[in-house]
Amino acid sequence: MTEIITAEEMSRQREFTEKVARLNSQREQPPVAHVHTFGCQQNVSDGEKIKGMLSGMGYGFSDSPEGADIVIFNTCAVRGNAEDRVFGNLGALKHEKRRNPDIIIGVCGCMVQQEHVVKKIKRSFPHVDLVFGTNALHTLPELIFGQLTERKRSFYVPGGDGVIAEGIPLKRENSLKVSIPIMYGCNNFCSYCIVPYVRGRERSRAFSDIIAEAKAAVDSGAKELLLLGQNVNSYGKELGSSFSELLRAVNAIPGEFKICYMSSHPKDATRELIDTIAECEKVTRHFHLPVQSGSTRILKEMNRHYTREDYLKITEYIREKIPDAALTSDIIVGFPGETYEDFCETLSLIREVKFDSLFTFVYSPRKGTKAYDLPDPIPEEEKGKWFRELLSVQGEIGRNMYEKYVGRTLRVLCEGTGRTKDSLLTGRTEQDVIVDFDGDERLIGQFVSVKIEQAFDWILVGKSVE
Ligand code: 5AD
Ligand code: SF4
Repeated sequence: MTEIITAEEMSRQREFTEKVARLNSQREQPPVAHVHTFGCQQNVSDGEKIKGMLSGMGYGFSDSPEGADIVIFNTCAVRGNAEDRVFGNLGALKHEKRRNPDIIIGVCGCMVQQEHVVKKIKRSFPHVDLVFGTNALHTLPELIFGQLTERKRSFYVPGGDGVIAEGIPLKRENSLKVSIPIMYGCNNFCSYCIVPYVRGRERSRAFSDIIAEAKAAVDSGAKELLLLGQNVNSYGKELGSSFSELLRAVNAIPGEFKICYMSSHPKDATRELIDTIAECEKVTRHFHLPVQSGSTRILKEMNRHYTREDYLKITEYIREKIPDAALTSDIIVGFPGETYEDFCETLSLIREVKFDSLFTFVYSPRKGTKAYDLPDPIPEEEKGKWFRELLSVQGEIGRNMYEKYVGRTLRVLCEGTGRTKDSLLTGRTEQDVIVDFDGDERLIGQFVSVKIEQAFDWILVGKSVE
């Protein structure tokens, strides 16, 4: 069962925040924290909470661990290379600890919800002081107080189905583009994926809490709200609500802003949801619908609950209802037992759908998942060849994809100075396509009409028009 963290517990944590702040105020220099977040938007959002809590305790922030009083690694477990990067970075902190034995080194996030990772940290990374799991994030003030008052290694990784903790302070990375978690965890158990094991069961935040956070963000000037969850399409099932209902309510908040969301599962991308998106003028015209494979046989092995045909029907319906929509996807190459013939079905699917862009991954075995135990006879080298073939086919499909925008005037949220030249501005269209354009700097943070003059493989270039 989901554990709702009580208001009393949150107020107890605030007391610890004040105690740490008092200790820190006695120092000559304000202390500094370095928080390094790895992985997805969900983790970035947790990183904002970690920084929010640390800020309340009196910490400033630095971009590097050197000279910091606290270093926290907020980790990702989705693929092996993400974990390797964390271990590499953690190893490098040994020197920092030698130089400054008072430094507090903490590791949190998805990686540490795995027993074998905690064991490895205990054994091979003795300079790590603090390990806390995804269900213990809200207890950071108490954990830091413990570190400051009695220096003892501390491992706190509660299991269970997962928690919802409201009222954690936030230090947002970006005030223009604001992330709002709407649900946590995942129930899908795709056979390759570690997320359901490290993030617990699906649980939705209360409708009213989300709307209040969205309103407050818009009131303080946010122009893009990113609604976050592992599978946003199943928002609210246990509350008798739905993602469609939530989208309509966020769309109805007065003000000029854009609504984005991630991630979506195709099995829950219903016609009703697509109709809702078509009707909600603030919702992005970008569908990121991870297909993973074009082979129905492999999709079944992956436990995805849709066939190639189901997926094609959804994308056809999206194109019919919202002809202007951009479609992107995730693909895994080299799932255990995948044959070259299966892989060719993925190639044929991407040729058929013509995605605007793809996020492509070579399958990474994750201990504890179903797929981990499946025979996996294809050598990595062969998988690498398939991977390169996939990139080259997508490269061909993507080429000239943006030509269709040349001559059109598009609405763009201006985010800052240009990606190609400092003298230009940059932003994204309603389809999430990047645009550099000529215009006055005062347009930063506003929606701007941009006439598109040139198209390249990954970017459009144009001029702002009144
Ligand atoms: N190996 C490779 N890719 C994976 N993903 C999730 N788990 C794995 C894995 N074990 C990819 C999926 C998912 C994206 C976030 O990461 O494509 O949609
Ligand atoms: Fe992982 Fe599947 Fe859940 Fe996405 S829907 S987090 S891929 S188990």
